Amino acid sequence: MAIWLNGAVLDNAQARISVFDHGLTVGDGVFETVKVTGGAPFALTRHLERLGASAAALGLPAPDLSLIARGSAELLAASGSPDRARLRITVTSGDSPLGSERGGGPLTIVMALGGLKDWAASCDVVTVPWPRNERGAVAGIKTTSYAENVRALAYAAERGGSEAIFANTQGNLCEGTGSNVFLVVGGELVTPPLSSGCLAGVTRGLLLEWFGGIERDVAAAALAAASEAFLTSTTRDVQPIRAVDGVVLPAAPGPVTGKAAQVFAARAATSPDP
Ligand SMILES: Cc1ncc(COP(=O)(O)O)c(C=O)c1O
Repeated sequence: MAIWLNGAVLDNAQARISVFDHGLTVGDGVFETVKVTGGAPFALTRHLERLGASAAALGLPAPDLSLIARGSAELLAASGSPDRARLRITVTSGDSPLGSERGGGPLTIVMALGGLKDWAASCDVVTVPWPRNERGAVAGIKTTSYAENVRALAYAAERGGSEAIFANTQGNLCEGTGSNVFLVVGGELVTPPLSSGCLAGVTRGLLLEWFGGIERDVAAAALAAASEAFLTSTTRDVQPIRAVDGVVLPAAPGPVTGKAAQVFAARAATSPDP
């Protein structure tokens, strides 16, 4: 398997990152997951823009986005232009002393390809007891510090869920561990605003543009009371929510979810880099 590391395509066995890398020692980095279909990345420009924004928000030097774009094409070509894959782009602050301070050296930039799993037709979600801190230093940043998400997803899995849902410190709905949430309340399609602390999901943004929806705070409890709801993410696109904490929603997919999925699929099929 090929890996792109700091400008070169290498065999997996040759790709090496230092044990002093600040991404490894303290999770000081940012990342993107990009969907690859038919050998081409989907929405790469938006993902690279968000990568740059995440790096800036974390106070990292700006990664060379055109180098990363070229590198992703090199990696895909070296990997036989896979029909379906996930492209993971990771940027860390590089080598560092073994504490929270940065080393100040060059960034580590690495790209790898992995499998793209087929998601179930619907999912059960579990709300977790830990809040997302919408005022925290890493709120809304796609940082490699994802241990909170790992813990939350395991918590959901232990309770039969395939995604965990966070409320924020105000008790408002925020997001999943790797997804944004949409719900139909009072006949309106609603999704939490970015001020809720959620990530500015690429899929969320595209769906708002292509299909519509209102960005508005709702209480976390509104999800289980919704007439229908769904998750969005790069690998899922639109995935209906069947149940919330064991409460089965009236329909999955409901009529709005079905239409949203249809519109997203149709627009994505004709706009590879929207
Ligand atoms: C915390 C979080 N929220 C939302 C999303 C969805 O974002 P996107 O549609 O860009 O994949 C992700 C992506 O994995 C995520 O990690």
